[in-house]
Amino acid sequence: MRRIIVFAVIALMLVPVVVSANGAPDAKGGKIVIGANIYSFADNFMNGVMKPELERYAAEKGAAIIIVDSEGQQAKLNDQVDVFIAKEVDVLAINLVDPASAASVIEKASAAGIPLILFNKEATEAGIMGTYDKVWYVGTNSAESGIIQGEMMVADWKEHPEWDKNKDGVVQYVLLKGEPGHPDAEARTVESVKAFRDAEIPVEQLALEADPNWSTQHGNDKMQAWLTASFGDRIELVICNNDGMAFGAINALKAAGVWLPLYGVDALDQALTHIEDGEMNGTVLNDGVGQSRATVDLAVNAALGKDVTDGTNWIIEDNVSKAVRVPYVAVTPENYQDFR
Ligand code: BGC
Ligand code: CA
Repeated sequence: MRRIIVFAVIALMLVPVVVSANGAPDAKGGKIVIGANIYSFADNFMNGVMKPELERYAAEKGAAIIIVDSEGQQAKLNDQVDVFIAKEVDVLAINLVDPASAASVIEKASAAGIPLILFNKEATEAGIMGTYDKVWYVGTNSAESGIIQGEMMVADWKEHPEWDKNKDGVVQYVLLKGEPGHPDAEARTVESVKAFRDAEIPVEQLALEADPNWSTQHGNDKMQAWLTASFGDRIELVICNNDGMAFGAINALKAAGVWLPLYGVDALDQALTHIEDGEMNGTVLNDGVGQSRATVDLAVNAALGKDVTDGTNWIIEDNVSKAVRVPYVAVTPENYQDFR
């Protein structure tokens, strides 16, 4: 009997949640409209993983989402935010172009009283999240990806003494960094290499190149140039801060008939194939699907004036970062099949 009553009470409590999840009506009784952007549709991870899931999951929740391309220009994004505000969207989901330029977007949202979810590029200006009560962030713990990538590389290096080509006990590496000033690029660059130092394996950086677009083209061009540089023969390890750049580096290596241990981040489908083919030694799952869902969940709740994590399993880290951080996972030749 008690059990039946408990079930009945739970069922009653669920009714309004189910209704709003299917219909997601905004304050005016229409569909919730999310005004969103991607910093650049040319980015493999943003366009290939996050954008489709933002669209699919918003539709599943009964919300409308408009996603525009900021084409790598912060000024363009600022204009797009103005247009969204003029159109009276219910909530903004913004992928900053420049992580140091959150202030202008936050000011616009705050002046219009529209809730704002920043995602993928965490604002770097100290204290900025405290300037508006209706701004939150969805992303990852940037350092975690570098730590996981570093641990994989250290374990493999120890298992493969032949990777130390010149037998000097030092890891001669090259690194494809991604966007300078992007918290993910900065943290990965530091943490992956630090793992070697922590394991008391000395490292020597032969080259490091940044690229604001995190692109395959850049990975290809840099790797090609490095292979023919004076230090080309000494390279023992290729560290890539994302899979997109890793794909380019793999192309260049194959074209030159060279094989080198190589690692990425993101776990894009193509990376799993490269792992299968032995062209990549590991990557780190950057859970874009989870981050897209968290972005939409928070956006819909914020638009409804609810607690942003209401009815979800997401956790806001603290009231300074106001961040939901989706965990990274190591992807290796042993477990890559689980990520297909
Ligand atoms: C991803 C990169 C992507 C970048 C865009 C990072 O978290 O790992 O692949 O280019 O976000 O901001
Ligand atoms: Ca060496």
